[in-house]
Order: sequence, then C-alpha cells, then structure tokens
Amino acid sequence: LCVVAAPVSAQNYPTRTITMIVPFAAGGPTDVISRIVTANMAQTLGQSIVIENVVGAGGTTATTRAARAANDGYTLITGHMGTHAASVPLYPKLAYHPEKDFEPVALLAGTPILILARKDFPPKDLKEFVAYVKANAEKVNAAHAGVGSVSHASCELLNSILDVKPVGVPFNGTGPAMNALVAGQVDYMCDQIVNAVPQINAGTIKAYAIATPERNPSLPDVPTTAEAGLPAYQAQAWNAIFAPKGTPPSVIATLSAAATKALDDEAVRKRLLELGSVIPAPANRTPEALATLVRSEIAKWTPVLKPAT
Ligand code: MLT
Repeated sequence: LCVVAAPVSAQNYPTRTITMIVPFAAGGPTDVISRIVTANMAQTLGQSIVIENVVGAGGTTATTRAARAANDGYTLITGHMGTHAASVPLYPKLAYHPEKDFEPVALLAGTPILILARKDFPPKDLKEFVAYVKANAEKVNAAHAGVGSVSHASCELLNSILDVKPVGVPFNGTGPAMNALVAGQVDYMCDQIVNAVPQINAGTIKAYAIATPERNPSLPDVPTTAEAGLPAYQAQAWNAIFAPKGTPPSVIATLSAAATKALDDEAVRKRLLELGSVIPAPANRTPEALATLVRSEIAKWTPVLKPAT
C-alpha cells in the first residue's frame, strides 16, 4: 500500500491548530504579548493558536526548534530583540540565523526597557544607583533571562556604560526573574515594560528610570534615563512573529493580515497600552518592515555585545 501525502494547501490555510512557540517562561513579557495578540488572531483565522513555552539558553533553544519546524504555517515563534538580534554576536555557534532561517511575519510591540530593583535595594534614585553599583560592583547581582535575552543584552549595555560587571543570575524568562526581584532574592534587572508595570503599580519593586527619550503614559511618574542623569542609556526591545524559512508567501500574508488586524482591535490595543507597549504603526508591522528591523538590530547590537563575550 502506497500512501502519498497530500500537498499542503496554502489556499485553505489554516485548517488546524497553529502552535506559537514562546521562547521564555509563561507570564513574562513575550508570553503576555503573544497571548494578547494570538487570542485575537485565532478569531480572525478561525483556528486555535496554542502557546508552547520552550525555555532555555536565552531563548535560543526554542528559536532553533522553530527554525527547524515544518514550514507550513502551523509552527510559528514570537521572537524578539534577543532571539533575532542580540543572540547573533553572543553565540558564535548559533544554530540558526535570524535572517536566513526565518520569514518575518509581523512586528507586534515595542517594549521600552526599565532599570528596576528590589524594593529594599538601598539607592533611592538613578544617580544613587549608579554610585552604589560602581562602589559595590563585586557584591551586586543582576537577574536576566539567559545570555542573549533582552534583559541580558540590555543590562550588558548598561553595565558597559557604567563600566561594571555585576554577577548575572539567569532565569528561564523575566517572569520568574521578576518573582525573584519581588521576593528580594536578586538586586536589579533591566526588563521590558510589559513585565514591570503591574509590579511598579503594586509597589513591589523600584523603578529608577525608563530608557526611552519620553516617559511612558502607563508609568507617568517614572523618569526617563535622561531626566534621571544617565542619558547615554537608551534601550527599547520589540517582539515579533516569525515563521520558518520557506513558509508559503500566501500563508505569511494571511498571518500578517491577522496580526495587523489584532493590533487595530480596541481591546487588544487597550491591554497592550496599559502594559506600556508601543504599538507599531501599520507600515512598521509588515514582513518587509520587520526584515529591515531585524537587519538593523543585528547591526546595532553586534558592536555592543561582541566585547562582552
Ligand atoms: C521573557 O518573556 O521572559 C523575556 O522576553 C525575556 C527576555 O528576553 O529578557
């Protein structure tokens, strides 16, 4: 008996459940953004989108898996500034290349970086933080989500500006890292706003500054790094959907349209904005714009992170 596999029909896509790989622990920024957007995309597409959290190696384990998945539109990944840019200089033997092994689908959200600390960390403001970290460089530690993650790369940038080398404490995502910060088990962290807003508003952690030129409407009392005395530190991450290379163009177009429709949805926008995300303008969400962003981000982060390896 000879069974011939039916050709994958991109025309009827999708006809079954789609898996969205999230390369970090549940509850962290990438997971939260993915869940908000994919819930809406699933309605548009008429199929479920199941989130699969695959952790390890700063998101590169999951991203390798996504690069090797079938390119039929049923396995996607929410990657970010770490998995699809910062990991390139940090992992000389990275098993994938963000440009060669993926089809960009849609940019979902910009996520400003904040300098955060446990509630009882002694410095009161950013100037004191800088002085304290410099004076206690051997003792302080910084939580992150693994080498190559956004939190790791963002703190490497901060550390290079301050010329300090704190002990890094890796977690499987900044969801668990945030739990450790709230519990006072680690000293500080450079994290995406989406993870920080609920805790800052609950008063469970300290926020010294947001590393963007303007304050964020979701955190009007948190000064910018420029206002707080460290203008050199500017950092904003982003999260985006990618498909394995060779996924049919019609499938990419269907997914991209569903993602951009989700970003225009009132309820989705409200939730993302409440968490401080920057919703990209329609022209910046497209596969072409995302390809350009990935290229420029690799070029931007490579000189920053090369010396740290
Ligand atoms: C997460 O979702 O845990 C983060 O995006 C991790 C990071 O890259 O810092």
